Amino acid sequence: MQYREFGQLGFKTSVFGMGCMRLPQVETAEGRKVDEAEAIRMIRYALDHGVNYLDTAYGYHDGTSELIVGRALRDGYREKTKLATKLPLWRVETLADAERIFTEQLTKLQVETIDFYLLHAVKADRWRKVRELKILDFLEDLRKAGKIRYIGFSFHDHLSVFKEVIDAYPWDMCQIQLNILDEKVQAGVEGLRYAGAKGIPVVIMEPLKGGKLAQKIPADVLALWGSAPVKRSPVEWAFRWLYNFPEVAVILSGVSSMAQLEENIRIFAEARPHCMTAEEQNLVRQVINLYASKTKVPCTECGYCLPCPQGVAIPRIFRSYNEGSIFEQGAEAAKEYQKLIAKAHDASRCVACGACEQVCPQGIRIIEELKAADQALR
Ligand SMILES: NC(=O)c1ccc[n+]([C@@H]2O[C@H](COP(=O)([O-])OP(=O)(O)OC[C@H]3O[C@@H](n4cnc5c(N)ncnc54)[C@H](OP(=O)(O)O)[C@@H]3O)[C@@H](O)[C@H]2O)c1
Repeated sequence: MQYREFGQLGFKTSVFGMGCMRLPQVETAEGRKVDEAEAIRMIRYALDHGVNYLDTAYGYHDGTSELIVGRALRDGYREKTKLATKLPLWRVETLADAERIFTEQLTKLQVETIDFYLLHAVKADRWRKVRELKILDFLEDLRKAGKIRYIGFSFHDHLSVFKEVIDAYPWDMCQIQLNILDEKVQAGVEGLRYAGAKGIPVVIMEPLKGGKLAQKIPADVLALWGSAPVKRSPVEWAFRWLYNFPEVAVILSGVSSMAQLEENIRIFAEARPHCMTAEEQNLVRQVINLYASKTKVPCTECGYCLPCPQGVAIPRIFRSYNEGSIFEQGAEAAKEYQKLIAKAHDASRCVACGACEQVCPQGIRIIEELKAADQALR
């Protein structure tokens, strides 16, 4: 396992952090649920093999992830790792809500102290709420009381909001979505470098785009990976591209089986910054370009087009349209689209007013593309 300084905080963390949002599951009479014994075995295996960063959240696995992590951390395992969990901002309307949730989290996790306490999935509207309710003052009180050690946030909005949030507070860390296909999505590589330049450690989530970079890989993409002189799996290339960045402190990997965990621990044995040669970087660039050529609409999900006066969920529609094409997952994309139809957020609601096209920074002909997406996804 490789370790990196966690910013200026005075300790090192493993570059591989275990994400506890995709624990192994089993079918039961009541539906799918986490295979608790296997999940605990995997968490402990990770900690026994050098992983010292665990990430969970209040809502993961319908609230059971924190419970299972808490059980895994008994028997001396708590001392082996930094523990991160998050405050679900969408469930907080008053400070009393935040207090109640935090108390519940300590009980579920069976710990006295949480190392990293994050505002979960910050977006522009939630960031306004954080300021209005003075939630950061509440977190500072928790820190003074010794109940949390460090304050951070995870992020899902566009770059300008990320910079605003980063600049607004002396964060101990932040967590962003990043992978080879999301270089320019949300905070992206620019956000990574922005936080890095300010000395803020960056934790990466969705390094394999939630698994899409590991499964159902198009044949031409596989052939391109296979053309490298050194043979590596697509999963290894995806992680390698990320840990090559010196600004990356921890890469969270969600693993749903012991085999995936073992493989990723092996891959992270080489997780040194600047480990990629110019030829390897060029290969990844070719793969990124090949994936991009399968993209239907060059939407970066910046959200400038929102709110649509008719309620059309423009970026979500283009995401489904693109992912159906890029990952050859038309059925999944159509299923997602059905959800939008059910909520009257689908493309058929467009009345061609053109408000979106006036503000789209990518110059996308949104009205026309919405019609094409509607045809393809319906
Ligand atoms: N704060 C937030 O808003 C937020 C949002 C997202 C994630 N997170 C955190 O970040 C963590 C990482 O994100 P993520 O879980 O989306 O990570 P990810 O690495 O992008 O996706 C994980 C999935 O990739 C597949 N995978 C992993 N290793 C593999 C291997 N060696 N071979 C083949 N497939 C492999 C598995 O898919 P299958 O299970 O389908 O096999 C696994 O469930 C999460 O677990 C969570 O802790 C936080």
